[in-house]
Amino acid sequence: MAVKPPLVPHAKPLIGHILDIWQDPLKFFSSAAQVAPLSRIKIGWKDACLISNHELLYQILVPEAKKYDKGIQYERARAMLGNGVLLAEGDLHLRQRRLMQPMFNKPSVNDYIDAMHTYSTAMVESWADRDVVELYPEFYRLATRVVIDTLFSTKMSESDVELVRAKMPIVISGIEKRGALPPRLFDTIPTPENRAFYSAISDLRSLGDRLVDARLRMKREREDRADLMDVLTETDDEVARRDNDRAQILNEFLTFLTAGSETTPSAIAWSCYLLGRHPEIQEEVRAEVAGFDPGANTVAAIQQLPLLQAVVKEALRLYPPVWALGRRTLQTATLGGYELPPGTQVFYSVYSIQRDENVYDEPNEFRPRRWIGDDKKYPRTAFLPFGAGVRNCIGEHFAWIEISIAIVNILKRYELSLQPGQQVPPAAMGALVPGNLPMRLKRLVAQ
Ligand code: HEM
Repeated sequence: MAVKPPLVPHAKPLIGHILDIWQDPLKFFSSAAQVAPLSRIKIGWKDACLISNHELLYQILVPEAKKYDKGIQYERARAMLGNGVLLAEGDLHLRQRRLMQPMFNKPSVNDYIDAMHTYSTAMVESWADRDVVELYPEFYRLATRVVIDTLFSTKMSESDVELVRAKMPIVISGIEKRGALPPRLFDTIPTPENRAFYSAISDLRSLGDRLVDARLRMKREREDRADLMDVLTETDDEVARRDNDRAQILNEFLTFLTAGSETTPSAIAWSCYLLGRHPEIQEEVRAEVAGFDPGANTVAAIQQLPLLQAVVKEALRLYPPVWALGRRTLQTATLGGYELPPGTQVFYSVYSIQRDENVYDEPNEFRPRRWIGDDKKYPRTAFLPFGAGVRNCIGEHFAWIEISIAIVNILKRYELSLQPGQQVPPAAMGALVPGNLPMRLKRLVAQ
């Protein structure tokens, strides 16, 4: 970089901002956001950029997306996900995304409603005798079962679900941590942390291998709905068939296991937390969904529950599960008046961008009604829990419907409240999660 963006203060020799990022990443990125729309941070001794302005973010994600690849965080995920669609670049990404897209459009998501409703009904019924439930692990189990059943027609055993719940967070937080390290530094040293990270990856890849084998051997009936595995293995397109050899199928299976299990539980949990904090809004949402049977409805009908959708949207704004991301320049790029040479790592904190006081009134407050009426009033990349541009989340409709159905099923049976004085600070453990979320449940008379 010839003229460089301003450096965020307190970089230490050799390690730069690494410790600050590890110790409290939300705080670091929020205060760094105050420095300039485009600032410079030090990842070890290397420069990286930080975007804190939605217009610059739009530039890199939409019109100039071709000038960037996914960069360092994603490279760290390759040992787990290989070339699955989340990490694939260029033509492979384009072909895989095109092949899979129909499975995530609204008509296909309609087909998943039954499973989403059945699993979440079983979950809420299992709470019937309990006064307090630790919610986050419940939602993690739910999301894991739903994504693998709907996309791979596989009902996971309890022990497999628990293995995912135990190992996936180690992998995801390890990837996040390694995203703030200069390339390969420390990675090969056999520290307990490194050993736990690589052994969790190996356990999850073995589990994936076993489940993929079982699914490929499964006897399918003519009337069975085509699932994502069918789409990958039975395409008429010769190039796509060649792409999807056994190794790539495992990568895609692990990609959806990861993307589906680490994100929606956080969104459901934060929505419940906010409804517990705001009992009057909880009551209004309950009134809105009274008499609504999610299992007998469609994506379109679920999306027409305005207050419920606004609550989820506001939860995704305040607590975006994918809270920080990055890109890397493939060629010289001009951004915010600076010239970034090829190979420049660019980070952005979705968490800070979505709390920008220049965009949102009372940015730190839960005000779901800001989304009712004209929800196009906010700039495209000021709200981007599902990303933007060609690499946006393929599972966006899937996630909205899964989250909405779970919340409807909860609110129809229980009144949710927090314990007196309960604080729930967000933990940036890969996904942005409520560390512990025990909530009180009061069983309601059946509606
Ligand atoms: C609240 C839930 C979810 C959130 C917040 C979320 C967020 C995101 C974000 C931000 C990206 C873009 C990453 C980037 O720009 O670098 C992404 C990509 C992706 N998501 Fe999601 N996601 C969610 C649920 C899901 C679900 C349920 C699935 C699958 C069923 C899924 C599958 C994927 C895949 C495969 C990609 C990669 C798409 C591509 O590169 O073409 N996500 N997600």
